[in-house]
Amino acid sequence: MKEKLLEEFSKVFGDNEGTKVYFAPGRVNLIGEHTDYNGGHVFPCALTVGTYGVARKRTDHKLNLYSMNFENLGVIESSLEDLVPHDEAGWTNYPKGVMWAFEKRGKKIDYGMDLLLYGTIPNGSGLSSSASLEVLTGSILRDMYGFDVSNEDLALIGQYSENNFNGCNCGIMDQFASAMGKKDNAIFLDTATLQFEYAPVVLEGAKIVVTNSNVKHSLVDSAYNERRSQCETALHELQEAEAKAGGREIKSLGDLTPDEFEARKDAIKDDVRKLRAKHAVYENQRTMDAVAALRAGDIEKFGKLMNASHVSLRDDYEVSCPEIDVLVEEAWHVDGVIGSRITGGGFGGCTVSIVKDEAIDTFKEKLAAAYSERCGKTCDFYVVEIGDGPVIL
Ligand code: GLA
Repeated sequence: MKEKLLEEFSKVFGDNEGTKVYFAPGRVNLIGEHTDYNGGHVFPCALTVGTYGVARKRTDHKLNLYSMNFENLGVIESSLEDLVPHDEAGWTNYPKGVMWAFEKRGKKIDYGMDLLLYGTIPNGSGLSSSASLEVLTGSILRDMYGFDVSNEDLALIGQYSENNFNGCNCGIMDQFASAMGKKDNAIFLDTATLQFEYAPVVLEGAKIVVTNSNVKHSLVDSAYNERRSQCETALHELQEAEAKAGGREIKSLGDLTPDEFEARKDAIKDDVRKLRAKHAVYENQRTMDAVAALRAGDIEKFGKLMNASHVSLRDDYEVSCPEIDVLVEEAWHVDGVIGSRITGGGFGGCTVSIVKDEAIDTFKEKLAAAYSERCGKTCDFYVVEIGDGPVIL
């Protein structure tokens, strides 16, 4: 891969003197969905697919940005004087956003760069190609300019740029998973405190299979932001009622156990908001239970919690879609499937399933046939491996 990328860099930029090759991974979330902006737990892992970058420092302020995934766009020229988002700047808004975020932190970038990118995450699949590009850019800047930033900082800077430069109000999960990834481990992260533990994903005789629905519904960003604000309003209602009753401080929805929520939920004055909050509270509990089950070697229980997570995301949080529901329901009916659910932000994208080795072929055949018959569409399968965070190759 490294040779191929260096060769490509030479083709685009003339030669590859003074370059270095970097990589940052994408992620898949095993359980804990839409909990990261509710102060709850998540359980994602970094993948071995992600974004590669070949970078070389320049002696002026120019930014020459080229992506092998968007060859037709050619080299997109910009400069350090233009670290502002533009609609027509397309994918370059991500690396530029990270440069902007470094400068916001007082890390002045003195020279521009030539940068060639190559992403191995399928476009729009919901496996966090944007977070991997943000973490990649951060790790290039850190190395190129000797900035003293930790991998955790790279995650926070990536999220900050995505929120404030790219206008997507995402939580910390994706960038954290990319920046802090560890081979064969998932990351049990408490998003309220950013305390985390690695948990080995030991799936004897089974694999993680990601199924791409190849659907991406257009309402993703607006619906995501709407879910966020519904949860915020529900939290305020709970906090107000609790304060009136002289109760305890409720910091976030993730701060409540299901029992505590049930005892207080009537403070939420709208049925839809109540369902959204219910999902956030119960999903947080499911995530903690799932990690405990995995640690105890009870993979069957882990799978059942994945299935329950899907039902809650479908019915209470309403972030699934018919295509994804078909893929998940069909998966549940295949012998050897331990668990299956939607993963990521929702409204399309991918499902994540744990499938016994001997059932993987049948799983693919059955899902592909059913998806074609019931939705008239084709899906793609990736048997994924859990990889490390950002590296210099
Ligand atoms: C997207 C966001 C994450 C997280 C998930 C849902 O991937 O970027 O921060 O909220 O949706 O779990």
